Amino acid sequence: MNTRPSLNGRTVLVTGGAGFIGSHLVDRLLVEGAAHVVVIDNLFLGSEANLADALASGKVTFYRDDAEIASSLDYIFERHDIDVVFNLATKALNYSFINPANAYDTNVKVALNLLELQRRGRFTTLCHFSTSEVYGTAVYEPMDEAHPRNPTTTYAAGKAAADLAVESWVRMFDLDAFIVRPFNNYGPRQNHQGLLAGVIPITAVRVLTGGQPEIHGDGTQSRDFIYVADTVDAVVKLFGVLPSGESVNISTDNQVSISELITRICAHYGYTGEIVRKAARPADVQCHNASNAKVNQLIAYQLTDFDTGLAQTLEWYRDRIGAR
Ligand SMILES: NC(=O)c1ccc[n+]([C@@H]2O[C@H](COP(=O)([O-])OP(=O)(O)OC[C@H]3O[C@@H](n4cnc5c(N)ncnc54)[C@H](O)[C@@H]3O)[C@@H](O)[C@H]2O)c1
Repeated sequence: MNTRPSLNGRTVLVTGGAGFIGSHLVDRLLVEGAAHVVVIDNLFLGSEANLADALASGKVTFYRDDAEIASSLDYIFERHDIDVVFNLATKALNYSFINPANAYDTNVKVALNLLELQRRGRFTTLCHFSTSEVYGTAVYEPMDEAHPRNPTTTYAAGKAAADLAVESWVRMFDLDAFIVRPFNNYGPRQNHQGLLAGVIPITAVRVLTGGQPEIHGDGTQSRDFIYVADTVDAVVKLFGVLPSGESVNISTDNQVSISELITRICAHYGYTGEIVRKAARPADVQCHNASNAKVNQLIAYQLTDFDTGLAQTLEWYRDRIGAR
Protein backbone atom coordinates (compact mmCIF):
# COMPACT_ATOMS: atom_id res chain seq x y z
CA MET A 1 0.00 0.00 0.00
CA ASN A 2 1.35 3.42 -0.91
CA THR A 3 1.97 5.92 1.87
CA ARG A 4 2.41 8.95 -0.36
CA PRO A 5 1.77 9.91 -4.01
CA SER A 6 4.40 9.13 -6.63
CA LEU A 7 7.22 11.46 -7.63
CA ASN A 8 5.72 11.87 -11.08
CA GLY A 9 4.93 15.54 -11.75
CA ARG A 10 6.45 16.77 -8.48
CA THR A 11 9.01 19.49 -7.88
CA VAL A 12 11.88 18.06 -5.90
CA LEU A 13 14.86 19.62 -4.12
CA VAL A 14 18.02 17.54 -3.72
CA THR A 15 20.62 18.91 -1.32
CA GLY A 16 24.08 17.62 -2.21
CA GLY A 17 22.67 16.74 -5.64
CA ALA A 18 25.96 17.30 -7.49
CA GLY A 19 27.63 14.61 -5.38
CA PHE A 20 28.04 10.89 -5.95
CA ILE A 21 24.70 9.43 -4.81
CA GLY A 22 22.85 12.74 -5.25
CA SER A 23 23.61 13.01 -8.96
CA HIS A 24 22.45 9.43 -9.57
CA LEU A 25 19.29 10.25 -7.62
CA VAL A 26 18.68 13.35 -9.77
CA ASP A 27 18.97 11.21 -12.93
CA ARG A 28 16.51 8.71 -11.47
CA LEU A 29 14.03 11.39 -10.39
CA LEU A 30 13.85 12.53 -14.01
CA VAL A 31 13.14 8.96 -15.09
CA GLU A 32 10.40 8.84 -12.44
CA GLY A 33 8.77 11.84 -14.15
CA ALA A 34 9.61 14.61 -11.68
CA ALA A 35 8.42 17.87 -13.25
CA HIS A 36 11.40 19.82 -11.96
CA VAL A 37 14.48 18.96 -9.90
CA VAL A 38 16.25 21.72 -8.01
CA VAL A 39 19.76 21.03 -6.74
CA ILE A 40 21.65 22.93 -4.06
CA ASP A 41 25.29 21.94 -3.72
CA ASN A 42 28.26 24.06 -2.64
CA LEU A 43 30.60 21.81 -4.68
CA PHE A 44 32.63 21.03 -1.57
CA LEU A 45 33.10 17.62 -3.13
CA GLY A 46 30.51 17.25 -5.88
CA SER A 47 30.87 18.56 -9.41
CA GLU A 48 28.63 20.09 -12.04
CA ALA A 49 29.94 17.47 -14.47
CA ASN A 50 28.03 14.84 -12.48
CA LEU A 51 24.84 16.66 -13.51
CA ALA A 52 25.72 17.14 -17.18
CA ASP A 53 23.02 14.80 -18.54
CA ALA A 54 20.44 15.95 -16.03
CA LEU A 55 21.02 19.64 -16.81
CA ALA A 56 20.70 18.90 -20.53
CA SER A 57 17.13 17.71 -19.88
CA GLY A 58 16.08 21.30 -19.16
CA LYS A 59 14.23 20.08 -16.06
CA VAL A 60 17.00 20.69 -13.55
CA THR A 61 18.04 23.94 -11.89
CA PHE A 62 21.40 23.98 -10.15
CA TYR A 63 22.30 26.40 -7.36
CA ARG A 64 25.89 26.46 -6.22
CA ASP A 65 25.16 27.47 -2.66
CA ASP A 66 25.40 26.36 0.94
CA ALA A 67 22.49 24.51 2.54
CA GLU A 68 24.03 25.10 5.97
CA ILE A 69 22.97 28.73 5.61
CA ALA A 70 19.22 29.06 6.19
CA SER A 71 18.86 32.13 3.94
CA SER A 72 20.37 30.19 1.00
CA LEU A 73 17.54 27.69 1.27
CA ASP A 74 14.98 30.46 1.86
CA TYR A 75 15.53 32.13 -1.50
CA ILE A 76 15.35 28.78 -3.31
CA PHE A 77 11.99 28.07 -1.65
CA GLU A 78 10.81 31.53 -2.68
CA ARG A 79 11.70 30.82 -6.32
CA HIS A 80 10.39 27.25 -6.52
CA ASP A 81 7.24 25.59 -5.25
CA ILE A 82 8.95 22.51 -3.82
CA ASP A 83 6.95 19.42 -2.80
CA VAL A 84 9.63 16.96 -1.75
CA VAL A 85 13.20 17.27 -0.41
CA PHE A 86 15.93 14.60 -0.49
CA ASN A 87 18.68 15.64 1.93
CA LEU A 88 22.09 14.30 0.91
CA ALA A 89 24.38 17.28 1.58
CA THR A 90 27.36 16.27 3.67
CA LYS A 91 31.12 16.68 3.88
CA ALA A 92 32.82 13.31 3.49
CA LEU A 93 33.62 11.20 6.56
CA ASN A 94 37.37 11.65 6.08
CA TYR A 95 36.92 15.41 6.43
CA SER A 96 35.99 14.86 10.07
CA PHE A 97 39.60 13.79 10.72
CA ILE A 98 40.84 17.24 9.66
CA ASN A 99 37.89 19.50 10.55
CA PRO A 100 35.85 17.60 13.13
CA ALA A 101 33.60 20.45 14.15
CA ASN A 102 32.51 21.50 10.67
CA ALA A 103 31.97 17.90 9.53
CA TYR A 104 29.57 17.56 12.48
CA ASP A 105 27.99 20.98 11.92
CA THR A 106 27.16 20.45 8.24
CA ASN A 107 25.29 17.25 8.97
CA VAL A 108 23.25 18.86 11.73
CA LYS A 109 22.63 22.33 10.32
CA VAL A 110 21.37 21.28 6.90
CA ALA A 111 18.89 18.90 8.53
CA LEU A 112 17.69 21.54 11.01
CA ASN A 113 17.27 24.16 8.27
CA LEU A 114 15.13 21.74 6.26
CA LEU A 115 13.06 20.59 9.24
CA GLU A 116 12.26 24.18 10.15
CA LEU A 117 11.21 24.93 6.55
CA GLN A 118 9.01 21.85 6.61
CA ARG A 119 7.53 22.81 9.99
CA ARG A 120 6.56 26.15 8.44
CA GLY A 121 4.74 24.29 5.65
CA ARG A 122 7.21 25.08 2.85
CA PHE A 123 7.24 21.50 1.54
CA THR A 124 5.43 18.21 2.15
CA THR A 125 7.88 15.32 2.44
CA LEU A 126 11.50 14.96 3.60
CA CYS A 127 13.65 11.95 2.74
CA HIS A 128 16.73 12.27 4.92
CA PHE A 129 19.93 10.33 4.18
CA SER A 130 21.55 8.84 7.27
CA THR A 131 24.53 6.49 7.16
CA SER A 132 25.56 3.10 8.51
CA GLU A 133 28.36 5.01 10.27
CA VAL A 134 25.85 6.06 12.96
CA TYR A 135 25.87 2.47 14.27
CA GLY A 136 29.63 2.36 14.90
CA THR A 137 31.26 -1.07 15.21
CA ALA A 138 28.62 -3.80 15.44
CA VAL A 139 27.58 -4.85 18.94
CA TYR A 140 25.45 -7.55 17.30
CA GLU A 141 25.18 -8.82 13.75
CA PRO A 142 23.60 -8.37 11.39
CA MET A 143 22.89 -4.77 12.38
CA ASP A 144 19.20 -3.98 12.02
CA GLU A 145 17.49 -0.61 12.44
CA ALA A 146 17.23 -1.15 16.25
CA HIS A 147 21.03 -1.42 16.57
CA PRO A 148 22.36 1.18 19.04
CA ARG A 149 23.78 4.33 17.50
CA ASN A 150 27.41 4.48 18.65
CA PRO A 151 29.11 6.92 16.30
CA THR A 152 32.90 6.76 16.39
CA THR A 153 33.60 9.91 14.33
CA THR A 154 32.29 13.45 14.55
CA TYR A 155 30.91 12.95 11.04
CA ALA A 156 28.81 10.03 12.29
CA ALA A 157 27.89 11.91 15.47
CA GLY A 158 26.50 14.72 13.28
CA LYS A 159 24.57 12.20 11.19
CA ALA A 160 23.20 10.52 14.35
CA ALA A 161 22.18 13.93 15.72
CA ALA A 162 20.42 14.69 12.43
CA ASP A 163 18.58 11.35 12.67
CA LEU A 164 17.37 12.24 16.16
CA ALA A 165 16.34 15.68 14.94
CA VAL A 166 14.24 14.19 12.12
CA GLU A 167 12.62 11.72 14.53
CA SER A 168 11.84 14.38 17.13
CA TRP A 169 10.50 16.94 14.61
CA VAL A 170 8.20 14.22 13.25
CA ARG A 171 6.93 13.40 16.75
CA MET A 172 6.45 17.01 17.81
CA PHE A 173 5.08 18.53 14.62
CA ASP A 174 3.61 15.54 12.77
CA LEU A 175 5.82 16.08 9.72
CA ASP A 176 6.08 13.61 6.83
CA ALA A 177 9.78 12.72 7.06
CA PHE A 178 11.62 9.42 6.88
CA ILE A 179 15.22 8.22 7.03
CA VAL A 180 17.10 6.00 4.59
CA ARG A 181 20.36 4.59 5.88
CA PRO A 182 22.70 3.38 3.14
CA PHE A 183 25.76 1.26 3.83
CA ASN A 184 28.96 1.77 1.82
CA ASN A 185 28.09 2.81 -1.71
CA TYR A 186 30.33 2.37 -4.69
CA GLY A 187 29.93 3.10 -8.38
CA PRO A 188 30.64 5.67 -11.09
CA ARG A 189 31.06 9.33 -10.03
CA GLN A 190 32.34 8.60 -6.53
CA ASN A 191 35.00 11.21 -5.81
CA HIS A 192 38.49 9.89 -6.58
CA GLN A 193 40.55 12.96 -5.76
CA GLY A 194 42.44 14.11 -2.70
CA LEU A 195 42.20 13.19 0.95
CA LEU A 196 38.46 12.61 0.84
CA ALA A 197 38.39 9.82 -1.75
CA GLY A 198 36.78 6.51 -0.78
CA VAL A 199 38.67 3.22 -0.79
CA ILE A 200 37.52 1.94 -4.20
CA PRO A 201 38.21 5.13 -6.20
CA ILE A 202 41.49 5.86 -4.44
CA THR A 203 42.76 2.34 -5.03
CA ALA A 204 41.61 2.39 -8.66
CA VAL A 205 43.39 5.68 -9.28
CA ARG A 206 46.59 4.55 -7.55
CA VAL A 207 46.74 1.41 -9.66
CA LEU A 208 45.78 3.18 -12.90
CA THR A 209 48.37 5.91 -12.45
CA GLY A 210 51.34 3.74 -11.52
CA GLY A 211 51.03 4.05 -7.73
CA GLN A 212 50.73 1.34 -5.10
CA PRO A 213 47.50 0.33 -3.38
CA GLU A 214 47.37 0.73 0.41
CA ILE A 215 45.69 -1.12 3.25
CA HIS A 216 45.20 0.59 6.61
CA GLY A 217 45.48 -1.79 9.58
CA ASP A 218 45.34 -5.53 9.04
CA GLY A 219 42.72 -5.33 6.27
CA THR A 220 40.24 -7.57 8.10
CA GLN A 221 37.89 -4.60 8.61
CA SER A 222 34.87 -5.24 6.43
CA ARG A 223 32.16 -3.22 4.72
CA ASP A 224 28.79 -3.95 3.18
CA PHE A 225 29.26 -2.51 -0.32
CA ILE A 226 26.15 -1.59 -2.27
CA TYR A 227 26.02 -0.41 -5.87
CA VAL A 228 24.84 3.20 -6.14
CA ALA A 229 22.09 2.44 -8.68
CA ASP A 230 20.64 -0.10 -6.22
CA THR A 231 20.58 2.49 -3.44
CA VAL A 232 18.79 5.01 -5.63
CA ASP A 233 16.32 2.37 -6.84
CA ALA A 234 15.54 1.45 -3.22
CA VAL A 235 15.13 5.09 -2.15
CA VAL A 236 12.66 5.83 -4.94
CA LYS A 237 10.64 2.70 -4.10
CA LEU A 238 10.78 3.41 -0.35
CA PHE A 239 9.46 6.91 -1.00
CA GLY A 240 6.09 5.37 -1.76
CA VAL A 241 5.86 3.05 1.23
CA LEU A 242 8.05 3.92 4.23
CA PRO A 243 5.93 5.45 7.01
CA SER A 244 6.90 8.83 8.40
CA GLY A 245 9.33 8.73 11.34
CA GLU A 246 10.80 5.37 10.32
CA SER A 247 14.29 4.52 9.14
CA VAL A 248 15.50 1.70 6.97
CA ASN A 249 18.90 0.18 6.17
CA ILE A 250 19.89 0.01 2.51
CA SER A 251 22.49 -2.73 2.33
CA THR A 252 23.36 -6.08 0.84
CA ASP A 253 23.76 -9.52 2.44
CA ASN A 254 27.47 -9.46 1.76
CA GLN A 255 30.49 -8.24 3.61
CA VAL A 256 33.77 -7.70 1.87
CA SER A 257 37.00 -7.23 3.82
CA ILE A 258 39.26 -4.40 2.75
CA SER A 259 42.05 -6.91 1.95
CA GLU A 260 39.75 -8.87 -0.32
CA LEU A 261 38.52 -5.69 -1.98
CA ILE A 262 42.04 -4.45 -2.72
CA THR A 263 42.97 -7.89 -4.08
CA ARG A 264 39.94 -7.84 -6.43
CA ILE A 265 40.76 -4.35 -7.71
CA CYS A 266 44.38 -5.36 -8.34
CA ALA A 267 43.23 -8.50 -10.17
CA HIS A 268 40.79 -6.51 -12.35
CA TYR A 269 43.54 -4.18 -13.54
CA GLY A 270 46.21 -6.90 -13.71
CA TYR A 271 48.33 -5.24 -11.01
CA THR A 272 50.85 -7.60 -9.44
CA GLY A 273 53.05 -5.11 -7.55
CA GLU A 274 53.34 -4.42 -3.85
CA ILE A 275 50.40 -3.59 -1.58
CA VAL A 276 51.58 -1.05 1.00
CA ARG A 277 50.60 -1.59 4.64
CA LYS A 278 49.73 1.52 6.67
CA ALA A 279 48.78 2.08 10.31
CA ALA A 280 45.13 1.57 11.20
CA ARG A 281 43.06 4.77 11.03
CA PRO A 282 41.80 5.94 14.39
CA ALA A 283 38.07 5.31 14.85
CA ASP A 284 37.91 3.05 11.78
CA VAL A 285 34.81 0.89 12.18
CA GLN A 286 35.79 -2.81 12.23
CA CYS A 287 32.71 -4.42 10.79
CA HIS A 288 29.55 -3.34 9.05
CA ASN A 289 27.38 -6.37 8.55
CA ALA A 290 23.87 -5.08 7.92
CA SER A 291 20.43 -6.56 8.12
CA ASN A 292 18.37 -5.79 5.03
CA ALA A 293 15.32 -7.69 6.28
CA LYS A 294 13.22 -4.53 6.61
CA VAL A 295 13.93 -3.13 3.15
CA ASN A 296 13.27 -6.58 1.68
CA GLN A 297 9.83 -6.64 3.30
CA LEU A 298 8.94 -3.15 2.09
CA ILE A 299 9.92 -3.15 -1.59
CA ALA A 300 10.92 -5.36 -4.51
CA TYR A 301 14.59 -5.01 -3.60
CA GLN A 302 17.10 -5.46 -6.40
CA LEU A 303 20.82 -5.86 -5.84
CA THR A 304 23.60 -5.88 -8.39
CA ASP A 305 26.10 -8.69 -7.95
CA PHE A 306 29.31 -7.25 -6.40
CA ASP A 307 31.62 -8.56 -9.15
CA THR A 308 29.44 -6.97 -11.84
CA GLY A 309 29.10 -3.64 -10.05
CA LEU A 310 32.80 -3.51 -9.18
CA ALA A 311 33.83 -4.28 -12.78
CA GLN A 312 31.52 -1.52 -14.12
CA THR A 313 32.90 0.92 -11.58
CA LEU A 314 36.54 0.11 -12.28
CA GLU A 315 35.94 0.44 -16.03
CA TRP A 316 34.33 3.85 -15.44
CA TYR A 317 37.51 5.02 -13.66
CA ARG A 318 39.67 3.52 -16.41
CA ASP A 319 37.67 5.49 -19.02
CA ARG A 320 38.26 8.73 -17.15
CA ILE A 321 41.80 8.24 -15.96
CA GLY A 322 43.26 6.04 -18.67
CA ALA A 323 46.29 3.71 -18.42
CA ARG A 324 46.34 0.02 -17.41
N1 LIG B 1 28.71 7.13 -0.20
C1 LIG B 1 28.38 6.30 0.76
O1 LIG B 1 28.93 5.21 0.86
C2 LIG B 1 27.31 6.64 1.76
C3 LIG B 1 26.97 5.69 2.71
C4 LIG B 1 25.99 6.00 3.64
C5 LIG B 1 25.35 7.20 3.60
N2 LIG B 1 25.69 8.11 2.67
C6 LIG B 1 25.00 9.40 2.70
O2 LIG B 1 24.51 9.69 1.41
C7 LIG B 1 24.57 11.09 1.19
C8 LIG B 1 25.33 11.37 -0.10
O3 LIG B 1 26.66 10.87 0.04
P1 LIG B 1 27.68 10.86 -1.17
O4 LIG B 1 28.50 9.65 -1.02
O5 LIG B 1 26.97 11.10 -2.42
O6 LIG B 1 28.60 12.08 -0.78
P2 LIG B 1 29.18 13.23 -1.70
O7 LIG B 1 30.23 13.92 -0.89
O8 LIG B 1 29.53 12.75 -3.05
O9 LIG B 1 27.91 14.18 -1.83
C9 LIG B 1 27.57 15.13 -0.86
C10 LIG B 1 27.38 16.45 -1.57
O10 LIG B 1 27.05 17.45 -0.59
C11 LIG B 1 27.68 18.66 -1.00
N3 LIG B 1 27.75 19.54 0.16
C12 LIG B 1 28.59 19.49 1.23
N4 LIG B 1 28.31 20.46 2.10
C13 LIG B 1 27.26 21.15 1.58
C14 LIG B 1 26.52 22.26 2.03
N5 LIG B 1 26.79 22.86 3.19
N6 LIG B 1 25.54 22.73 1.23
C15 LIG B 1 25.27 22.14 0.04
N7 LIG B 1 25.93 21.05 -0.43
C16 LIG B 1 26.91 20.57 0.34
C17 LIG B 1 29.02 18.22 -1.54
O11 LIG B 1 29.60 19.16 -2.40
C18 LIG B 1 28.66 16.94 -2.26
O12 LIG B 1 28.38 17.17 -3.63
C19 LIG B 1 25.22 11.70 2.41
O13 LIG B 1 24.23 12.20 3.27
C20 LIG B 1 25.93 10.54 3.07
O14 LIG B 1 26.03 10.67 4.46
C21 LIG B 1 26.67 7.87 1.74
